[in-house]
Amino acid sequence: MSDNSAIRVERFEPELIDGVPAAATLDFLRAVSRGFHESQLDADDLGVLAGLEISDNTVFTAVYDEAAVQPSLHADAPVATYAAFPGTLNIGGGNLMPVHQITSVTVSPTHRRRGLLRRMITPDLERARESGAVFAALTASEATIYGRFGFGRATQRARFKLKTDQGVPLRGRAEGSVVAVAPAELKKYAPAIFAAAHARTLGSISATRFDVGQAAGEWADYDSLKPVPNLRAALHLDAQGKPDGFMSYLFSGWKVEPPTMEIGQMCTVGGAARRELIAYLGAHDLVEKITGRGPVDDVLPTALENARAYKATALGDHLWLRILDLETALTARTYAGDGRIVLRIRDSLGMAEGTWELAVEDSAASVRRAPEGVEPAAGLDVRDLGSLYLGGFSAAHLAGAGVLEVHDPGAVRILDSLFATATVPYCQADF
Ligand SMILES: CC(C)(COP(=O)(O)OP(=O)(O)OC[C@H]1O[C@@H](n2cnc3c(N)ncnc32)[C@H](O)[C@@H]1OP(=O)(O)O)[C@@H](O)C(=O)NCCC(=O)NCCS
Repeated sequence: MSDNSAIRVERFEPELIDGVPAAATLDFLRAVSRGFHESQLDADDLGVLAGLEISDNTVFTAVYDEAAVQPSLHADAPVATYAAFPGTLNIGGGNLMPVHQITSVTVSPTHRRRGLLRRMITPDLERARESGAVFAALTASEATIYGRFGFGRATQRARFKLKTDQGVPLRGRAEGSVVAVAPAELKKYAPAIFAAAHARTLGSISATRFDVGQAAGEWADYDSLKPVPNLRAALHLDAQGKPDGFMSYLFSGWKVEPPTMEIGQMCTVGGAARRELIAYLGAHDLVEKITGRGPVDDVLPTALENARAYKATALGDHLWLRILDLETALTARTYAGDGRIVLRIRDSLGMAEGTWELAVEDSAASVRRAPEGVEPAAGLDVRDLGSLYLGGFSAAHLAGAGVLEVHDPGAVRILDSLFATATVPYCQADF
């Protein structure tokens, strides 16, 4: 095995030449699917995927090993991949902030644990911060990878199953109506619904062209970019007839017991659309179970006559947040009340390192470096500030977990009176 002396790092934008991915783009996309143990993509899939990356304004970072020779794949292909694209994050109060989204992180088994991830992510986060991104975000394949780079668990997501053999009777009155539509119709309606849901959902991230196409059945997932022939879809219309939610779903097949509908993409602007779309799905004859994903404080169990028909089958971290620009992040946030606190933040990458004073007065926040000699009331790593920031984890929770150091006995109460949020943050986007 070679050492790192022949390692070359390149950043480039994906490229299609006459509809065909350029060689470096092709090698990059193939390396990513190898890294995630996915099936090999054919030429059509690779073309579609390259087009999606281009429409997201993704920038690739590829690492090559100049010492690799034939027949090693790495004679041409990268030994490590990393990609990032811009989006927005809802930080509450209807405020959408620029976020640097990281994806496609893979390192070949021949080159793992030699610092290649560190070599890709550290300068990329620096660059993102310099170009004005306030946050970086990702979803993690393993919970042990990104904390060291300042990412903390910020939102969680539940998987659920719902028994529907008796239908899905709801306790409240029906609001609006549900219409069955061809999945392709969602190309027209999903973008506005995604945008409206993003605007009012704390913790949500802007949807991409991939999300819209997946909802509309243009492709199944990143490992199959072919149309999905057995996808079905429905739209919810509010009382004024305006679309405010959609769902696409698949029948699991007659070999699955009990017969099940799997929800693919679902996005709703409010609880009524979520309840009514689920009730519609539960009204399908021959189906006894629905599976899907949703927020940890899903309205469904409360909405149902039979709350126990709903069962969360998994609960896990979803969005990992990294605060790149602490002053902007803390100043832009809305707070539950007024108050003042001095915090010591540790950041191994240095970006948020220091002792900071946060003051909220008449709902307006100001942040500055604490004057010399002022002692912090509490201390935490920037990754844990990422967990506190969107309201997904309280200061009391972080202190109980031993990751918030409390120097002043009132610190937890002050932090929670500031950072508490009216809703639990939820990000449905996968990236
Ligand atoms: C996760 C992955 C990208 C790590 O790449 P890598 O080049 O081996 O990581 P590095 O050598 O740069 O490691 C950087 C640090 O993270 C640690 N680390 C890396 N991967 C880790 C893991 N899976 N679990 C625990 N620690 C990990 C290293 O020990 C090292 O620690 P240190 O610098 O503090 O001593 C690589 O293992 C991989 O491709 N995994 C499969 C695909 C995947 O899961 N990608 C992530 C998608 S979100």
